[in-house]
Amino acid sequence: MQNEETAHVVLEKDEVEASKIVARIEDVRVLIDSGDADAAMALCEDILRTPGIPINTAVKVGLLVKELGHTEIAASIFENAYTKLQSVIDRLEDPERALLPAAETLADLGHFDEAEALCRKAIQSAPENLTVAVGYAAFLVHRDRIDEALSVFEQHNDLTNSKFNSAIHFAMVFDHLQSDDAARACLEQAKMYCKTKTQRAKLDFFLASKGMRKNAEDQHGMAVELFDGFAENYDKQLAKLDNNGPSMVFTALEELGLPKTPSRRILDAGCGTGLCAGFLRPYAKELFGVDLSVKMLEISRDKGGYDFLARTDLSEIVTYPEGKFDMIICADVLVYFGALTTVFQNFASILNPGGWLVATVEFENDPKVKTGFKLYPSGRHKHTDEYLLKTLTIAGFPKPKSIKHARLRNELGAPILGTMIAVQKPALVFR
Ligand SMILES: C[S@@+](CC[C@H](N)C(=O)[O-])C[C@H]1O[C@@H](n2cnc3c(N)ncnc32)[C@H](O)[C@@H]1O
Repeated sequence: MQNEETAHVVLEKDEVEASKIVARIEDVRVLIDSGDADAAMALCEDILRTPGIPINTAVKVGLLVKELGHTEIAASIFENAYTKLQSVIDRLEDPERALLPAAETLADLGHFDEAEALCRKAIQSAPENLTVAVGYAAFLVHRDRIDEALSVFEQHNDLTNSKFNSAIHFAMVFDHLQSDDAARACLEQAKMYCKTKTQRAKLDFFLASKGMRKNAEDQHGMAVELFDGFAENYDKQLAKLDNNGPSMVFTALEELGLPKTPSRRILDAGCGTGLCAGFLRPYAKELFGVDLSVKMLEISRDKGGYDFLARTDLSEIVTYPEGKFDMIICADVLVYFGALTTVFQNFASILNPGGWLVATVEFENDPKVKTGFKLYPSGRHKHTDEYLLKTLTIAGFPKPKSIKHARLRNELGAPILGTMIAVQKPALVFR
């Protein structure tokens, strides 16, 4: 069997299908947390009926089935998955797409020695691959072998040319796994290798998320630095991360069933390099792109996707273009804001009655986040659905027509789940 095929026995072949399954597994978690065990189990059974379900997904569902108390069913899922994995394991070669996911699955099944052997095989065949190195380090942290995890970082950092990148990623993963000393050690290295303004901005976001830098008021300054430095490579980088944000907007517009007539004045708020422009064009009479980063705007200008471009700070209404809009798109921008009330109020004030706001954010589903949003070391915030609904209401919007979750992009090999919200400003009521 070709390695590409064996990889697909472990992983989902089609990224879109993979993201749908991830979203459904998230739904199971939501049902469990809300106490609806029967619906959660029914959804697990439904997911398990997916034809050709990849081994790692079946095991993830098995873990939820076990949590729901159906230990016998879970045991049979695990046994089946282990047998299937054994039948392909010697032929797995691709370090990132086959060996690492297989190792994670073996660890989920409790076969830690076999999992570690695969991690080692992966790292030997791709010593400079950051995802593999980070995956192995995470495995070691889970086994409480922090010193060894740190030496995986050190070995990787010695080899790689992107030393800042490696240090900041390891810091994020250690931080995520609550291995604070290891995170701090990597952070110190990141500080040492921090040279460019963009790296400084990334570091500052990380420090701010840990309360180690008091900079809430300077977040927009940091966003400018980040995106001015990132602009040239933005499209390439996002493609590598399998960016699904603009197509989430596209799907939202299709699902709303709005006629594709070039009749609307549309604002792409935080347009960046213009990745959404092509989707919006069929709906637009006039297409405006606004952004805080001049460098991102310059790339958009060179591509020629918009009728008008302007430098705007979305939290400052006086910087917006003149006039009202029939539609505002805000894709992957609100993640750079914590509180959203002002931006939503600004949007409400420039929308025509009956106008649409379609926005994406990263999905916060941790009920412990009482403020409704949280800044992560990535420099981006995640927002809860409750918070979005509350702030939209404060800004005068009605209940959204649609609120959905789907994969936004991948990061360090794992999907980042996003929320897409579509809300319509009420049409005028004549008395
Ligand atoms: C991740 S990019 C998304 C770009 C584009 N919407 C897309 O989907 O590709 C985020 C964009 O938000 C912009 N941004 C961040 N804070 C902003 C603010 N306060 N006002 C306007 N734009 C902002 C950044 O400059 C950057 O171009």
